[in-house]
Amino acid sequence: NWTMAGFRDLEIAKIREQVGTGRVICGLSGGVDSSVAAVLIHEAIGDQLTCIFVDHGMLRAGEAEEVVSTFRGRFNIRLIHRDASDLFLDALKDVTDPEIKRKTIGRLFIEVFEQEAAKIGGADFLAQGTLYPDVIESVSFTGGPSVTIKSHHNVGGLPERMNMKLVEPLRELFKDEVRDLGRELDIPESIVGRHPFPGPGLAIRIPGAIDRDKLALLRKVDTIYLEEIRRAGLYDAIWQAFAVLLPVRTVGVMGDGRTYDQACALRAVTSTDGMTAEFYPFDMAFLNRVASRIVNEVRGINRVTYDITSKPPGTIEWE
Ligand code: XMP
Repeated sequence: NWTMAGFRDLEIAKIREQVGTGRVICGLSGGVDSSVAAVLIHEAIGDQLTCIFVDHGMLRAGEAEEVVSTFRGRFNIRLIHRDASDLFLDALKDVTDPEIKRKTIGRLFIEVFEQEAAKIGGADFLAQGTLYPDVIESVSFTGGPSVTIKSHHNVGGLPERMNMKLVEPLRELFKDEVRDLGRELDIPESIVGRHPFPGPGLAIRIPGAIDRDKLALLRKVDTIYLEEIRRAGLYDAIWQAFAVLLPVRTVGVMGDGRTYDQACALRAVTSTDGMTAEFYPFDMAFLNRVASRIVNEVRGINRVTYDITSKPPGTIEWE
């Protein structure tokens, strides 16, 4: 009979057998998947693993610091932290098309990752926190024609180019199973219970061209929204919640003055695997509280909307 403890021991044995005395590198994003993959592999092969954290400058507030302190401090995992935000933001300066955004980020991610890997003399294996739904969705859209809906930048490309074999211990798991495995590995709840975060980060939550100012604005909105969600005790009931900075200015009133500022959208969905999703039915008092805080506390935002689209026909992210 199948248990998570049994799965963990089996995967550790498999990793040891596959890797032998080889060296493994793993891209760490701070998300649940790559974190669990890294800790599992570290448990199997210790310092034969080096994690590379490419900071593209489009993470949420405080996230980069948390990744570094958790993995170096708590788990004692070898970790390279490369701040590549200038490189990414320069390349994205005039990019408005969502697919080009994703591809640009994916390409640069690979470039920077390769550079960092080369600096430590390369490796024999590349570890990825690929989940079962990633494997499916990158290929086709379930129930529909076989077309790519969105190109996930964490799947494919890299291993062939770098001539590395793949280590993907989570390939058969769904998200909730990955979380259970993480708990089995004593990864802190703040990471294990964390909402999924897309590889391209906040870039795909800012329709149109992105820059540092827009990112800073979005981080403020996002922080307030998530603070209120946690305070209301709703974080764990929601699959994913985030703010989107809309590329539109609207008129408002503030005191005796007229404002002409940006609008934002809030998104929150329930889901079991990210492949389908329903919007979360917040009560009106909650939405009212969040909207008031955002408009009052974030200069530059004067309108808040709530996205009530399910997936399908919407996707969870806006791009
Ligand atoms: P969509 O927007 O396609 O998202 O409904 C489904 C789930 O996948 C996440 N997502 C990504 N994750 N790299 C990732 O690692 C990506 O490029 C990417 N794009 C979307 C999204 O946040 C949601 O959980």
